[in-house]
Amino acid sequence: MEKQTSRSLTRQATTSAKYVWLCLLSTCVLATYYLLKLLPIYHTSLEIPDLPSSERGDAGDFLQLKHIFHHGTGPRDYRIHKRLDITPEYLGKHAGFFQKQAQNMAHETRPGPTDAEASDSSYTINTNDYDWPQVFAGKNPFDIRLPFKQQDGTITRLRDRNEPEFVESYLDYARSVNGNAQILDKINLAWIDDEVSIPNITDKDTIVTLATISSNAYVRFPQDDDEKKKSDWTDVGGWQPDENHRDVNFGWQDIGLRGHVFVSSDNKTVVIGIKGTSGAGLPGGGSDETAGNDKTNDNLLFSCCCARVGYMWTTVCDCYEKAYTCNQDCLERELRRKDRYYEAALDIYKNVTAIYPAESTEIWVTGHSLGGALASLLGRTYGLPAVAIEAPGEMLAMKRLHLPQPPGLPKHLEHIWHIGNTADPIFMGVCNGVSSSCSLAGYAMETACHTGYQCVYDVVTDYGWRVNLLNHRIHTVIDDIILVYNETAPCVYQAPCRDCFNWRFVTHDEYE
Ligand SMILES: *[C@@H]1O[C@H](CO)[C@@H](O)[C@H](O)[C@H]1NC(C)=O
Ligand SMILES: *[C@@H]1O[C@H](CO)[C@@H](O)[C@H](O)[C@H]1NC(C)=O
Ligand SMILES: *[C@@H]1O[C@H](CO)[C@@H](O)[C@H](O)[C@H]1NC(C)=O
Ligand SMILES: *[C@@H]1O[C@H](CO)[C@@H](O)[C@H](O)[C@H]1NC(C)=O
Repeated sequence: MEKQTSRSLTRQATTSAKYVWLCLLSTCVLATYYLLKLLPIYHTSLEIPDLPSSERGDAGDFLQLKHIFHHGTGPRDYRIHKRLDITPEYLGKHAGFFQKQAQNMAHETRPGPTDAEASDSSYTINTNDYDWPQVFAGKNPFDIRLPFKQQDGTITRLRDRNEPEFVESYLDYARSVNGNAQILDKINLAWIDDEVSIPNITDKDTIVTLATISSNAYVRFPQDDDEKKKSDWTDVGGWQPDENHRDVNFGWQDIGLRGHVFVSSDNKTVVIGIKGTSGAGLPGGGSDETAGNDKTNDNLLFSCCCARVGYMWTTVCDCYEKAYTCNQDCLERELRRKDRYYEAALDIYKNVTAIYPAESTEIWVTGHSLGGALASLLGRTYGLPAVAIEAPGEMLAMKRLHLPQPPGLPKHLEHIWHIGNTADPIFMGVCNGVSSSCSLAGYAMETACHTGYQCVYDVVTDYGWRVNLLNHRIHTVIDDIILVYNETAPCVYQAPCRDCFNWRFVTHDEYE
């Protein structure tokens, strides 16, 4: 069965290489739509694996979507910050929409178009296509219950991390001294060992749950007047439309970061799924500007020097000095900009803790691709367990941001896990080089090093898969990888790893 799946994937892969870049980095809803439109995708003999236990009706704790945060990004819109509460009233009010949506999603588990249909240019498929895992076909993503298991753990984290502006002022200071370890050691940060609940990373249902939370690309909002007027959304950023920006939808569809907040039935465990795409899934979303903004952040986080790959490249910041020489201060400033995704992720965390106090709630973070890298950076900033799915290498960004690291942290106290597979070029850090699909699409994915643990499904060795961007898709990862393996992937600590070793990063001030 797996052999057949992998063969059909390989076959699709060859015909699809030039469309695949569309599916990069969580911008997957639109991309998947085009992909499905252009490709026959067969799941002929793929058996639907056992449903996770909650779907089988076993007792046990589960997570449910309770809030969605939308944080604008980009120079114009970063002040926009809103929250949608998923209440029984909200679900009831839009019941018709959700029912129809669930039916549409169920249809997508039918075999794809035939070769003849797909090669007929007039063939159209249902436009409601999602990157939604087949295992939950027909379920409403807004009120699905996802099982999870937790276990005891210890996290060494900053005592004062939740004091207002504490983390930011530390990061500002660290940046001002260029991360000079001798100077930073003198600050004597207060670290504490907190006994916490962490996800049971060896439990398959828990991994499926976290991956499903990460796959929020599927979420479509009701397309009615309430949604058009955003009347279901609450402002949490203190910014209201003013006379210059009368339109409530101003800055909404174009750019932004979303946090999907899942909460356990006892309100004790909160999982934030970070989604690095705004337009996808929102009515009228998925504009070029959205892709552009994601690309800017990707190229800032995962390239050596502002995506200065060659003469022909549009750079995302102005830090390049000369051949293989880059201004480090400039890079670090750019990453911390208020209108970029890292700061937006910190804001979302702060707004979540305004509802679920950090002192009395177990907060975990997760995300796919760009969202996974942001989850890891956020987890490291605040000392939260983080599970990233198929994220590009984020170690370089972590260093550039000078995220605080506990002194001499024993490896067993790590709380960042990267779930990946060997056939995903983004996760493996091989989607670069002039002719790679990433480069052709204008993505400079130059990093390969991850922080924390790596839990890698070796589908190349085990099932003969070929490295292809299709294997980056969250639905493929859930349906064809995590659920197909009997065991979760073993987690190992990243071997010493260094990105961009051929570059020289220079600073221009007294701490040089
Ligand atoms: C984690 O989950 C696995 C698989 O469900 C289970 O065998 C194991 O006992 C769990 N570990 C803890 C510490 O609960
Ligand atoms: C969880 O929180 C919600 C809203 O904040 C509240 O209505 C509900 O009663 C809480 N449930 C428990 C078990 O505390
Ligand atoms: C949400 O976060 C923003 C940015 O940090 C902050 O200005 C705002 O006060 C927060 N809102 C709430 C309700 O905590
Ligand atoms: C997975 O479990 C199934 C059923 O228990 C078994 O038939 C199969 O051989 C196992 N696969 C592997 C790779 O262990």
